Amino acid sequence: MELTVKLILWLHLVSVALAGSAAFALPVVRRMAVSADPALKPAYMPIMNKLAALGRMALVLLILSGLGLIWTKYGGFKGLNGWFHVKMTLVTLLAALAIFNIYNTRWAMAGDEAAVARRSMLSKIGTSLIMATILAAVFTFN
Ligand code: HEM
Repeated sequence: MELTVKLILWLHLVSVALAGSAAFALPVVRRMAVSADPALKPAYMPIMNKLAALGRMALVLLILSGLGLIWTKYGGFKGLNGWFHVKMTLVTLLAALAIFNIYNTRWAMAGDEAAVARRSMLSKIGTSLIMATILAAVFTFN
């Protein structure tokens, strides 16, 4: 059991790294796309979509491994402090953002200018939510 808990925690932390890399790389690639030669701009779209997909995969892994930790290490949700509820609220907001982002990307790909303009703001909100979730996790468990 001890080894299982350690391996799930390892997966949880690797997923935090994965989510962080996607969240921090996306704005960098977006800035490169904005200042790129107009002919090259479309080439950046698949890179940004791949990074967004990586972020979504990390979020699914975080939720699954997080639930695994609650089950194996803490024996359920009872006794977890208020910071854990803050963390879960932030995770819910992240999941809602990830779902909205799927639709926004579709609209952007179909040429919706408002959706294209919204992408930068959405990625800033996502990065802020991830950083806040990590802070809430540290206050919850330390
Ligand atoms: C974006 C989503 C998430 C992020 C960024 C995240 C981040 C983290 C981080 C950084 C830690 C280490 C904190 C520390 O040891 O001080 C941690 C631990 C933990 N997380 Fe998450 N987490 C996420 C989602 C979840 C979810 C959805 C759950 C449960 C449903 C969960 C349950 C846990 C548990 C139980 C631990 C404690 C591990 C231990 O006792 O060593 N996490 N998380």
